[in-house]
Amino acid sequence: MRVKNKIALITGGTRGIGAESAKLLAKEGATVIVVDVLDDEGQLLVEEIGRGAVYYHLDVSKPAEWEIVCEDIVNHFGRLDIVFNNAGVSGFEPGLGLGPQDPEHVSLEDWHYVVVPEEPEKATYPV
Ligand SMILES: NC(=O)c1ccc[n+]([C@@H]2O[C@H](COP(=O)([O-])OP(=O)(O)OC[C@H]3O[C@@H](n4cnc5c(N)ncnc54)[C@H](O)[C@@H]3O)[C@@H](O)[C@H]2O)c1
Repeated sequence: MRVKNKIALITGGTRGIGAESAKLLAKEGATVIVVDVLDDEGQLLVEEIGRGAVYYHLDVSKPAEWEIVCEDIVNHFGRLDIVFNNAGVSGFEPGLGLGPQDPEHVSLEDWHYVVVPEEPEKATYPV
C-alpha cells in the first residue's frame, strides 16, 4: 500500500473492520485519525496503535460534529488525504433496541434510524 505519511481518517474506526483498517494503515506508515461514538474504546485503540494516531468523538450522522472535527484536523495536520467512510449500523446490533429490519415489518422510525442522518436536509444524497 502507498499510504506512507498520508493522513487517514476512519469513521466507525473503534472496532471491527474500521479498527483493523486503522491498524493496517498505521502499519503501512499512515497517520490515522479514528472517529467513532465509542470514546473509551477509541482512546484505547489509538494508544495501542501509537505512531501519532488520534481519536475524536464524531457521530457521522451529525453534520455539525463533522465541521468541528474537520476544522481541528486541518488546524492540527494541515490536510486530510484519505477518508474511509466505514461507520454504519445494520439495525441488527444488540443494544440499539430496534425492532424487525425486514421490509414487511420494520417501523418507519427504525428504518430512518438506520438509513437517514439526523439532519437529512444536509445530506449529500436524496432521502
Ligand atoms: N461485517 C459485515 O459483514 C458487513 C456487511 C455489510 C456492511 N457492513 C458495513 O461495514 C461497516 C463496518 O462493519 P463492521 O462489521 O466492522 O461493523 P461494527 O458494528 O463492528 O463497527 C461499526 C462501527 O461504527 C460505529 N458507528 C456506528 N454508528 C456511528 C455513528 N453514527 N457515528 C460514528 N460511528 C458510528 C460503531 O460504534 C462501530 O465502532 C459498517 O458500516 C457495516 O454496516 C459490514
